[in-house]
Amino acid sequence: MISKKTIQDVQDRVDIEDIVSDVVTLKRKGSGKYLWACCPFHDEKTPSFSVTPDRGIYKCFGCGKAGDSINFVMDHDGLNYVEAIRHLATRYGIEIIEDEQTDSQLEEQNERDSLYIILNYAKDYFQDQLLNSDEGKSIGGSYFSERGFTKQTIEKFELGYSVDAWDGFLKEALANAYNEDILEKAGLIVRKEGDKKYDRFRGRVIFPIHNVTGKVVAFGARTLKKDDKPKYLNSPESDVYHKGKILYGLYQAKNAIRQEDNCFLVEGYTDVISLHQSDVENVVSSSGTSLTEEQIKQISRFSQNITVLFDGDAAGIRASLRGIDMILEAGMNVRVVVFPEGDDPDSYSRKLGTSAFKAYLSDNVVDFISFKTGLYAEESAKDPLKKAQSIKEIVSTIAKIPDGIKRAIYIKESSKLLEMDESVLVAELNKILISERRKGDKKRIEESTGEQMLEELIGEQEVKEIDQNGLIKIQERESIRLLINYGFNEIEEEYKLSDYLLEELEEVEFVTPVYLEIFEIFKKKLAGGEVIDSDYLLANGSKEIKNEVIGLMTERWEISPNWKEKYHIHIPHENELLETVVFTNVARLKFRVIQKLISENLVKMKSAKDASEQERLFMIHSELKKSEIELAKVLGIVVSR
Ligand code: CTP
Ligand code: MN
Repeated sequence: MISKKTIQDVQDRVDIEDIVSDVVTLKRKGSGKYLWACCPFHDEKTPSFSVTPDRGIYKCFGCGKAGDSINFVMDHDGLNYVEAIRHLATRYGIEIIEDEQTDSQLEEQNERDSLYIILNYAKDYFQDQLLNSDEGKSIGGSYFSERGFTKQTIEKFELGYSVDAWDGFLKEALANAYNEDILEKAGLIVRKEGDKKYDRFRGRVIFPIHNVTGKVVAFGARTLKKDDKPKYLNSPESDVYHKGKILYGLYQAKNAIRQEDNCFLVEGYTDVISLHQSDVENVVSSSGTSLTEEQIKQISRFSQNITVLFDGDAAGIRASLRGIDMILEAGMNVRVVVFPEGDDPDSYSRKLGTSAFKAYLSDNVVDFISFKTGLYAEESAKDPLKKAQSIKEIVSTIAKIPDGIKRAIYIKESSKLLEMDESVLVAELNKILISERRKGDKKRIEESTGEQMLEELIGEQEVKEIDQNGLIKIQERESIRLLINYGFNEIEEEYKLSDYLLEELEEVEFVTPVYLEIFEIFKKKLAGGEVIDSDYLLANGSKEIKNEVIGLMTERWEISPNWKEKYHIHIPHENELLETVVFTNVARLKFRVIQKLISENLVKMKSAKDASEQERLFMIHSELKKSEIELAKVLGIVVSR
């Protein structure tokens, strides 16, 4: 365990400006206390990502991502808390003190560290062999250049070569004081009975496999001989390499995945590498094994969208269908591109060249429904029984989607593609969902399904909308009340309530005219560096404003002294609670506004003109829902998902 002291040291030492500047260029606007940049978490052209150095925090007004330096590193690099602390400690040269570690924990940690060290040493060795040994240059080097890999690519993926000898690496490693046990644990040598030992990788080109932070954890090694088996020899599992948790190329792809908000999923090492050479960097590979939930989760840290690239052979496609279902089950979105028979992404990208290949990707991408429909179309056309079977297949995939509205959209879409009445599909879907429910899988079927469900949801929302403005008004009124009565009060040292409130509510459009008017006056004045109060409004406001202000001024929490004495209790004056009161007000107001936006969006969704429009609106719905849930958490409110 990392000690509290180390965590504290990291927190004291990190500088948000420094951390964020690694990724984007921050600029100050005028003399404001914010620094601005284009958000590294979503695609935008004008900066809405802010950093407040004196408070050590960042916030994006576009996508809502916010937090401190540690959150930033976690989010940006896809690390968990402990990994982020380690990363920052290393970066700032802070000694990592571990406490309360048992001897065995310590040993484990040491062993993992040793594995990383030896694997990195091996990577350097293989690289050196490729670039500097005669055999490496003539055999490995010419193989890579035959495949069209450039020098930059070889460097970027740290590719290497292992000479065709029994103990080339073993000797070198022993000479450098590495011990056999760790070499074996790292999977670099093989030990047989009678103490025979030899290099695992011989006469092969080497593809190092990195974890998400860029450390080498394993190798894939391809033979250069035509009939040699296996074609790829991979490191065995170890304490630092769990096949099902690693995606080849994720380290090199993560920024691009976030930037493009999409991740291409391919089968092999060479597919990943060739796509990079074709200027497509948001690509990872499950390295020939079937996709795992853990791998999907890794991708979801960077984007909710996966595009699966299929080689053009039908058997391979059938085998990978489970992967699509799993992605959908994780609540993510799947698209598919199929390559012509006999080609994989590697061969095809080289055949077409960069721009034609990119065009192929964008021209041939289909959502999974069209993809599956196409897959069964040929068979179904001939045989009605086959058609029934394919409908079942497709609907059962739709049933994997956790979100009811999304399911409804896909049912609609597939009804068109299959030329099948929607109600038939809904019935089939319900059948599956009900049997799922019977199986006790409650989570997926919280909502009912289909068009009906959408109706219900919207109907409910329309009723809600009537008092939604009323709820917003209550919170607007409260914001104005706090501004008028306590605008000058400091909720933190040198941080006035009015500053906080105006900053927080910058993006919120007030709906009640009189409060909007007052709020705008505050804003205008504050922009000129002036904080106003009730007196100003009473002197300069319209009649309506004056009435409102008078009403609000009397609403401080005044508690009669008698009452206090009578009950012997201390009731804190609102002043003492100000920070909490204003924070809650801001959260509540935002919460109400978000709920209204959700309703409005649902109504739009109902009258959307086509499935893609509906899908787009659905994305908005999900984002809003996320904010709603986040705010609800802060407020301790439970909302439906
Ligand atoms: N694979 C493996 N072990 C094997 C065969 C394949 O680990 N014996 C994995 C590798 O990650 C490989 C992927 O499965 O990249 C896809 O296999 P395949 O399509 O056979 O290889 P390609 O990537 O096309 O490799 P190449 O172009 O070099 O033949
Ligand atoms: Mn290939």
